[in-house]
Amino acid sequence: MKTVEIEARQTTWEYRPGQTIDAYGYDGQVPGPIIEARVGEPLEVRFTNRLPEPTTIHWHGLRVPAAMDGTDDVQPLVQPGETFVYRFTPPDAGTFWYHPHANEAEQLEKGLYGALVVRGDGEPIVDRERVLVLDDLKLDRRGQLAPFGGLKQRHDGREGDVRLVNGRAEPELRMAAGQIERWRVINAASARYVRLSIGGRPFRIIGTDGGLIEQPVTATEVLLPAADRIDILVGPFEEGETLDVQALRYLRMTMGRRGTESFATLRVGPAEPSVALIPRRLREIPALAALDAAPNRTVKMSVGPSLRRGLDFLVNGERHHQDKPVRVGELQVWDIVNKSLMDHPFHLHGFFFQVLSVNGQPPAFRSWEDVVNLPPRSTTRIAWMPDDRPGNWMYHCHILEHHEAGMMGHFAVAREDSMLQQTSQHQVHHHHQH
Ligand code: C2O
Ligand code: CU
Repeated sequence: MKTVEIEARQTTWEYRPGQTIDAYGYDGQVPGPIIEARVGEPLEVRFTNRLPEPTTIHWHGLRVPAAMDGTDDVQPLVQPGETFVYRFTPPDAGTFWYHPHANEAEQLEKGLYGALVVRGDGEPIVDRERVLVLDDLKLDRRGQLAPFGGLKQRHDGREGDVRLVNGRAEPELRMAAGQIERWRVINAASARYVRLSIGGRPFRIIGTDGGLIEQPVTATEVLLPAADRIDILVGPFEEGETLDVQALRYLRMTMGRRGTESFATLRVGPAEPSVALIPRRLREIPALAALDAAPNRTVKMSVGPSLRRGLDFLVNGERHHQDKPVRVGELQVWDIVNKSLMDHPFHLHGFFFQVLSVNGQPPAFRSWEDVVNLPPRSTTRIAWMPDDRPGNWMYHCHILEHHEAGMMGHFAVAREDSMLQQTSQHQVHHHHQH
């Protein structure tokens, strides 16, 4: 068993040399420490809250037991001064992350997020590996966090002009010529989409949210909506090259618009020998369902005017939608319908899904995901299997302001009909807290 102790506390965050803000950090740092785990090895995280407000930790993407999911559907909030012990055994290798599931919009913006890397057998051999956690910060004129709220932020989600890699504004990265690196890229921003490019040069996608894909896919860009991850092979490059790690212009139909912006500069130094060994076949991902499998549920995401709140972000017409339970072992095929005119990153807690189609078109390759972008006015069909981890789960838009506004669904995974009944009653009862 591996034991990790982690503390959330107030800290001073130096996001650029000599420039600091008052922030929150796991162990006082942003991002929090990288948690390293192994497939099948039990992990115990003893978490202490030293913040002036309650919080929890959600293990984003990990297939943990329901009680360890870190949401207020499954545990009381961890109050200031309290300790909560999370215990689970990671079943899958991949790039995951952890973050609070309480007052998310503020707590993540203030710096509470970190990477969790799970390693398995038979991974590609590379010359070097890096974790790149992307984020942005919205500051005021004094260089402190800009106030939260306002209609534009409610609509677009919070985006800032300071672009960060591993908590530092536009850092310089150095790599050796002739080598191949594995970059585990995590988009931890509240709302920003990153259409990632590395100086326009080809890279190879080898993994997504739920680990390796079947074979490397060459690309020159990849879209990372908020909360999404991608594993890519970068290089080899030549000595003296300088590449801009940037987010290309992406219009997600927001009030504010951005062009292409830089996240980091990659400088290529003298050559070093390479030992990289990348198999042509990375692993098998059996199809969960036929591409034209009939859906057994429709989840409608919409945005509408609200007298009281200006704008409402809804699932099936309500905030904090109480969705029907699903049964262990029963294949789920869901149509996620985005009725609105803007993009939303859909996130399912605790289970991986396969995207069967977007507006009837199959994706470029098969993969395991826990986040998928929903383009405006679209239908995305996903398939997933509720394995035997009964309890209360949720799905939501991962633009944190939309999530907070209630663009989410709560549902139970249950073993039998009797439990289906009980759990849904329990949930209705629980519902008023939101
Ligand atoms: Cu990163 Cu409820 O999610
Ligand atoms: Cu959204």
